[in-house]
Amino acid sequence: MSEKNVAILGATGVVGQQMLQCLEERDFPVRELVPLASQRSVDAGRTVSFRGEEVPVRLAEPAAFEGADIVLGAADDATARELLPEAVRRGAVCVDNSHAFRLEPDVPLVVPEVNAGDIAGHHGIIANPNCATIIGLVPVWPLHQAAGLTRLIVSTYQAASGAGLPGLLELEREIRCVAAGEEVGESAPFQYQLAENLIPQIGGFNEEGYTSEEMKMQNEGRKIMHLPELRVNCTCVRVPVVRSHSESITAEFERPLSVERAREILESAPGVRVVDEPSSSRYPMPLETSDQDLVWVGRIRRDLSAPDGTSSITFWCCGDQIRKGAATNAVQIAEYLV
Ligand SMILES: NC(=O)c1ccc[n+]([C@@H]2O[C@H](COP(=O)([O-])OP(=O)(O)OC[C@H]3O[C@@H](n4cnc5c(N)ncnc54)[C@H](OP(=O)(O)O)[C@@H]3O)[C@@H](O)[C@H]2O)c1
Repeated sequence: MSEKNVAILGATGVVGQQMLQCLEERDFPVRELVPLASQRSVDAGRTVSFRGEEVPVRLAEPAAFEGADIVLGAADDATARELLPEAVRRGAVCVDNSHAFRLEPDVPLVVPEVNAGDIAGHHGIIANPNCATIIGLVPVWPLHQAAGLTRLIVSTYQAASGAGLPGLLELEREIRCVAAGEEVGESAPFQYQLAENLIPQIGGFNEEGYTSEEMKMQNEGRKIMHLPELRVNCTCVRVPVVRSHSESITAEFERPLSVERAREILESAPGVRVVDEPSSSRYPMPLETSDQDLVWVGRIRRDLSAPDGTSSITFWCCGDQIRKGAATNAVQIAEYLV
C-alpha cells in the first residue's frame, strides 16, 4: 500500500478522535496527518495524539487541503458542504460522515460489507451512511442475499454520543445531576432531559410525522442495497446509553427463510457476531458492544405475526455507532483507495 497524506475534517470531535484511533489500529499507511477543526480548537491550541505524537490542530479552510490525498470528513453537514468540494478541487478523495452528500446520485454511499463495488464509481466524494443504517444493514444484507428482502420494520435505541461530543457530555452531566439529586435544567443538544428518560425524536419531523433520522433508514437503505422499492418503517428513539446503538428489526423476504438458516447465514456473515443463547440470557447489549467493530446479533426468532409464518425473521442487534457506524466504516472505505 502506498503512503497517503490524510486530513481529518473535524478531528477534535467524537468521530474524528475515533478515526485517529482506527487509522492507528488498522495500520493505515499515513505519510502525513493533518487534523482540521474550527477556529475554536485552533484558538485553544488543541492538539491530537497520533502514533505517539501530539499533532497541532489546523484551521479547516480550503488551503488546508493542499497536498492531501484522502480527507476523512467528521464535521457537520454545512461544514462538509462548504469545504469538501474544495478538497476535491485540490485532488483529494473524501470519505464523508455527514448527511450532506449521501443521496446525491454521483456519490457512492457505502457499507463495505454490502456494496464495496460502488466505491469505484466515485467522483471525489464517497459518503458514509447514517450510523443506525450501517448497523442495521450489516446483518440484513446477507439475509437479503439468501431470501430477497421486501420489507423492514425497525425500532432503534440510539446512544447519546450519536449527538456528538455535546451529546456525550450532556448525558454524563445529567447522570451526575440525577445521582446528586440536583435539577438537570437545560438539556441541549437534546430536546428534553435524557437521563432517566427516552426521547422518540431524532431530527425534525416531515409532514407524515416521521423524523429525518427515520427516513434515512429507508432512503439510504434503498440506495446502499440497490433496492429502490424496499418498504421500510422505522422509529428512532434516543436512549440514555453513552455509546452503541441497538435495533429491533423485523425483515420480510420473498422466499421462505427458517430461523435455523438465518442463524447459519449470520454466523458466517462479514462484520457480524451472533450472540444468541436465550437459555443463558446471552444477547447483544450496548455495554458489551462498545469499542469494538462488529455488529452483534441475537434474539433471532420467527415473526409470529407473519401471514405465512415462514418468510419473516425478527432479531435484535447492537453495534458501536462511533466505530462501525462512522469511523471504522470510513477507514474501511479509505482502505479501498490505497
Ligand atoms: N457521533 C456519532 O455517533 C456519529 C455517527 C455517524 C455519523 N456522525 C456524523 O459525523 C459527523 C461528526 O459527528 P461527531 O459526533 O463527531 O460531532 P462532534 O463531536 O460535535 O464533532 C464535530 C467536529 O466538527 C468540527 N467543526 C464544527 N464546526 C466546524 C467548522 N465551522 N469548521 C471546521 N470544523 C468544525 C468540530 O471542531 P471544534 O472542536 O473545533 O468545534 C469537531 O471536530 C457529523 O456529520 C455526524 O452527523 C456521527
